[in-house]
Amino acid sequence: MQEGIRIRGLSKRFGDQQVLDRVDLDIARGEQRVILGRSGQGKSVLLKLIVGLLRADAGSILVDGEEVTRLGKQGLYRLRQRFSMVFQGGALFDSLTVCENVGLGLREHTRWSDAEIDARAERALEMVDLAGAGAKMPAELSGGMRKRASLARAIVTEPDYLLYDEPTTGLDPITSDAINQLIQRLDEELGVTSIVVTHDMASAFLVGERFALLNNGHFVFDGDAEEARTQTDGAIGQFVAGRSEGPLDSL
Ligand SMILES: Nc1ncnc2c1ncn2[C@@H]1O[C@H](COP(=O)(O)OP(=O)(O)OP(=O)(O)O)[C@@H](O)[C@H]1O
Ligand SMILES: [Mg+2]
Repeated sequence: MQEGIRIRGLSKRFGDQQVLDRVDLDIARGEQRVILGRSGQGKSVLLKLIVGLLRADAGSILVDGEEVTRLGKQGLYRLRQRFSMVFQGGALFDSLTVCENVGLGLREHTRWSDAEIDARAERALEMVDLAGAGAKMPAELSGGMRKRASLARAIVTEPDYLLYDEPTTGLDPITSDAINQLIQRLDEELGVTSIVVTHDMASAFLVGERFALLNNGHFVFDGDAEEARTQTDGAIGQFVAGRSEGPLDSL
């Protein structure tokens, strides 16, 4: 069985908008992969396709040798137990406490007792430096704390794959830095394969090993940190330098 994620010829359109146009991407097991791209280029769509929350129009997504695009309801249910996604915006349930939010996946997927689930949720909260915040409601948390709570919810199920959608967007630089260090630490301690979607280059270089840049429906760059830093021309150079003149369509 081939481990990791192998995407070939993946296409997705909404109406007359071709968001992904036959894209290829490999993510090796244990890799920290960063997906870059401007707003609206299909980064969130790609993550949702990988976990089967959206259906592809064409192409293949192999996860550890299993074809995601052909999975039925049962198969998708099993697949999602190996994945956790930290959604853009956190997606905590406002009517549940932080601890209940974190334990949600375990309540759905295990038969463990409430006490066991609460204990594991508390441990996950400790890992993200939110020890003791379990009884709070999400509305009582700052933006950075909400992100950390959603990280705790993602790791509590001990997934093989962690998908982060813009984990630092909307946070101040110091909180962003803390979240990035946390992501790095979690990746190291848990040995997961992670995909981090971001348009923040400082974050990208801190947490990423390999980088792919999505633009106009295609990956226009795929390489390591060294290549991303040194390639000064083309879309990746423009993206890394943060130059905003004109669209990223020079490749
Ligand atoms: N369910 C949907 N129905 C219709 N259009 C959609 C849907 N989901 C995404 N889109 C469109 O697909 C395009 C890509 O969206 P996506 O959310 O993947 O962008 P993104 O790269 O994640 O952007 P951002 O950095 O702003 O989060 C957008 O134009 C969006 O409007
Ligand atoms: Mg997005």
